[in-house]
Amino acid sequence: MIVVLFGPPGSGKGTQAQYLVKSGKYIHISTGELLREEINRATVLGKQVKDIMERGDFPSDEIIMKLIEKHLLESKSEQIILDGFPRTLNQVLEFEKIIDKNQLKIGLVIDFKIDFEMLVDRVSGRYSCKNCGTVYHDVYNKPQKTGICDICHGDSFERRVDDQPEVLKNRIQKYLCSTEAIKNYYADKGVVVSIDASNNREEVRESVNKTLAQFGFDI
Ligand code: AP5
Repeated sequence: MIVVLFGPPGSGKGTQAQYLVKSGKYIHISTGELLREEINRATVLGKQVKDIMERGDFPSDEIIMKLIEKHLLESKSEQIILDGFPRTLNQVLEFEKIIDKNQLKIGLVIDFKIDFEMLVDRVSGRYSCKNCGTVYHDVYNKPQKTGICDICHGDSFERRVDDQPEVLKNRIQKYLCSTEAIKNYYADKGVVVSIDASNNREEVRESVNKTLAQFGFDI
């Protein structure tokens, strides 16, 4: 069964996905992460999408669908977290075909509700471990030991190019114009639950776990 983490940039989807993955019961597929990996490895695809992502625009649906299908079919877990996908109505419709063909099902869409003013603060303070990708924040989510990653003990960190304020504005705009409306598609199917993503990480985690349990996911 699939759970979609849905919400604007910086609303905390990746952070909650990290918690869920720790249980060993979920596979996490983040299209943003997959694209950034391609850029870091300087693959043909990475070179194709680098400038687009640095501007906060979307690579084509064709690129995204190929990427998602490949990783979905490789995943062996019965519980899959989708983070940052689908993001356009076209992706929603194409994805329906893939899940039908593979007897998969979207059991839940968790909508991360948050005031947009909070997003700047969240995104401008974000950084991640260069080695394992664990996400931190300058104020809200520091590693236990300054400068050392809690998970892999790496000491090298990076910030995302697309987290600069001007690019974030464009990403929020893209969310409002192309993404937010697809929530209605899933709401009509009765699988959308909104949670208050402006709460602290532990409170959001409780809401996510409670909602997953209500919809029959194993947490
Ligand atoms: P993607 O990587 O998917 O980014 P996003 O959806 O914009 O979301 P973010 O990763 O910015 O935020 P998040 O909600 O995961 O927040 P996080 O947990 O890190 O996409 C990037 C780009 O890739 C797109 O712009 C596009 O170009 C391309 N792309 C990807 N998918 C695509 C698709 N399907 N179609 C087309 N293009 C696609 O939290 C943010 C910060 O806040 C962190 O520092 C964290 O520590 C902190 N924090 C988290 N929760 C809390 C809390 N409750 N309280 C306080 N701080 C918190």
